[in-house]
Amino acid sequence: MIVDAAKISRFSRESFTKLGMSEEDADTVTTTMLEADYRGIHSHGFLRLPIYVKRIKKNFIQVPSKVTVEMETEAMALLDGHYSAGQVVGKKTMEKAMELARNHGIGMATAKHSNHFGIAAHYALMAAEQNMLGIVMSNVEPLMPAIGGAEKVIGNNPIAFASPTAEGDPIVLDMALSNAPLGKILFAQAQGKEIPKGWGVDKNGEATTDPAQVLDGGFLSPVAGPKGFGLAIFAEILTGILTGSQFSKSIPSMYDMKEKQSISHFMLAIDLSQFVSGEEYGNRIKTLTSFVKESKKAPGVDDLYMPGEIEFERERKNKESGIAMEENVLQELYQLSDELGVSLKEVVLQD
Ligand SMILES: NC(=O)c1ccc[n+]([C@@H]2O[C@H](COP(=O)([O-])OP(=O)(O)OC[C@H]3O[C@@H](n4cnc5c(N)ncnc54)[C@H](O)[C@@H]3O)[C@@H](O)[C@H]2O)c1
Repeated sequence: MIVDAAKISRFSRESFTKLGMSEEDADTVTTTMLEADYRGIHSHGFLRLPIYVKRIKKNFIQVPSKVTVEMETEAMALLDGHYSAGQVVGKKTMEKAMELARNHGIGMATAKHSNHFGIAAHYALMAAEQNMLGIVMSNVEPLMPAIGGAEKVIGNNPIAFASPTAEGDPIVLDMALSNAPLGKILFAQAQGKEIPKGWGVDKNGEATTDPAQVLDGGFLSPVAGPKGFGLAIFAEILTGILTGSQFSKSIPSMYDMKEKQSISHFMLAIDLSQFVSGEEYGNRIKTLTSFVKESKKAPGVDDLYMPGEIEFERERKNKESGIAMEENVLQELYQLSDELGVSLKEVVLQD
């Protein structure tokens, strides 16, 4: 079904403020989920609202939010998120990286004691919008085994890169280091659908197309085998290891309601204007894009895309039509509306 993005967003903001979040922070978290749904990354859209609310109620996500700077040099900083919502910590981390980059050409900001921050693209795009290159990583609870292993040891840590362009949308690569993120497995389960082969294995390490088998003690598979596994290890080094926060097996699952998570983020901003003229950079990006877009296509292929292009196309379309939502996700939101006493009415635009 297609739902009204404005009404769901209002519900989301009101739910968070009812739980003690400031209006600004409620808007930050809501905007990130809305952006995910607009971009067709439903695994990180309003599907996550109920789990965030559950974790706030348990004090695993701290409200009101608090983010402090623990260490800062000319080009580096470490922020402490004090277990606030990951989106709030993530935004402040990229803002700090960009502030450092504005002053010194390059800025690296990391954050500890954070939570799940949603889509990594959101923060990388903050940099691209300011004519900077943005690089973003986060760690997550372990979801993947080592190559040949049968126990979860490393997260499918998301990474994103964004670059401005001379005209049109930025170029943005935003990906999980598993073949599919956990959210897509949860989304397939919510839809009652099978998952493609290669997305995950069951608890014995056997390939499966049943999302429940992956979620029940099974594992996600790394993208590109040992290469994706290696990138996940380095994303962990740049986040959990570097910040002195939880890493690998010490991070509890977001869906295991027993304790707080202490997620960390790594964000790098490079102020392009201090390195190369905007005109030269823009022209070179334009040429690169045309080499890709105008290259010979395989039979049956209509279009060739730059990273992020598909998501921008979806975003434009969904802003017009509304966002797609599964019936059971909407039912969960109605349940939340009853629990919190926050109104959610007449949101379905198309069944
Ligand atoms: N916060 C977290 O803990 C966490 C963990 C994992 C993933 N995530 C998020 O999950 C989301 C989904 O990740 P994913 O790996 O499933 O993404 P995906 O596989 O849908 O896309 C990955 C990238 O490939 C590009 N792409 C896709 N098809 C293309 C084509 N035909 N030509 C050129 N480029 C193409 C996309 O633009 C995108 O940049 C991301 O937003 C990620 O940040 C978050």
